[in-house]
Amino acid sequence: MEEKIIYDFDAVISREGTFAEKYEARERFFGSAAVEPFWVADMDLPTPAFLVDHLRERLAHPMFGYTEQYNAVFDAIVWWMKNQHGATVDPKWISLSSSVVTSISIAIQSLTEPGDSVIVLSPVYGPFFSCTQANGRNVADCPLRIEQGRFEIDFAALEKTMAQADVKLLMLCNPHNPGGRVWSPSELAQLAHLCATNGVILFSDEIHCDIVYPPHRHNSMLNIAEASGNCIVAHSIGKTFNTSGLQASFSIIPDAALRKRFRAGLERVHAGDVNLLGKVALAAALSPEGADYKRQLVDYLGENTRLVCEKLQALEGVDVMAPEATFLVWSDFRKHGAWPEVFKRLIHNADVALSGGTFFGPAGEGWFRINCAHPRSKLLPAVDRIVAEFQNKPH
Ligand SMILES: Cc1ncc(COP(=O)(O)O)c(C=O)c1O
Repeated sequence: MEEKIIYDFDAVISREGTFAEKYEARERFFGSAAVEPFWVADMDLPTPAFLVDHLRERLAHPMFGYTEQYNAVFDAIVWWMKNQHGATVDPKWISLSSSVVTSISIAIQSLTEPGDSVIVLSPVYGPFFSCTQANGRNVADCPLRIEQGRFEIDFAALEKTMAQADVKLLMLCNPHNPGGRVWSPSELAQLAHLCATNGVILFSDEIHCDIVYPPHRHNSMLNIAEASGNCIVAHSIGKTFNTSGLQASFSIIPDAALRKRFRAGLERVHAGDVNLLGKVALAAALSPEGADYKRQLVDYLGENTRLVCEKLQALEGVDVMAPEATFLVWSDFRKHGAWPEVFKRLIHNADVALSGGTFFGPAGEGWFRINCAHPRSKLLPAVDRIVAEFQNKPH
């Protein structure tokens, strides 16, 4: 039997010279090019070697012209969704695109009209707001409630918002960024029911669905019967395989009429494809080898997030949401004073660049998100610096 590959996530690999946004944009966002970056949600962990080998193999051929959308890409997606998420997908339901945010924008453009409203359950990934607004639509924010340290959907408020005539689309982050919440089948079914009865299309952004910590399991909207007529599920290999720079994403729409409208939107701006290397990466990543790597990655990230939560939970005046999914830890620093002050102390005294909560909407004010997808030897000392800065030093 072939020996199983053991991945080394502790290796520290410099990203210098790679134009990594997380590093290059520090000066612009934090006023310091030296601060250690735990913000942009990509990993300081390497893409698995088997996947890099597939890319290298393709690079050995010296022509990089137009490529067809070949079956191996669709077969890989179908296999992954079945094998990893128990979802049966017909290859005809799949549309490629360069990024999940592209699909979000296309959904807004092709499925709503200017002046319509899009529901978001905030705090949530910033482009849910910015894409809606950039396209001249209104954000109908239905903030999540915090109960016993985790986010809950406010179904009563949602029902009222849904009933507004101009609401056409609901954007769900499943699992949730920044709270790391895994939505249950019954919550998803309730959402799907509300959307179906109010004629609202449901966009389920499932980009974080592969990083889920046992005993939790990802529940895809594709497995919710009542969503089959009006849902779009978007995914990508970007987070799981650290390939966001390759821009390889896809969406899945079971309903033929909805798919036709969405694809027309993709075609209008010529956005319905993935670049040549992205296709190679998709076909290689979504495989048994990829599943093996993912299992080890989830183990590593689960321990990272657990250790970070443990350290921060011991800090008086900081409330931490222990993530059920994602490599992100969402923490409430409001008891330590106004967020601009806390932000400065994090940057200048603790030497860490975290995502500020207002990126996720007004409900995120005073919160910070820590990206834990870093080798432990980098991550844990950074969290220790945060603890040292805020310990016994309330504002
Ligand atoms: C919920 C969510 N959706 C989408 C994205 C971005 O995906 P893409 O690079 O495919 O646009 C991110 C990145 O952090 C995210 O957290």
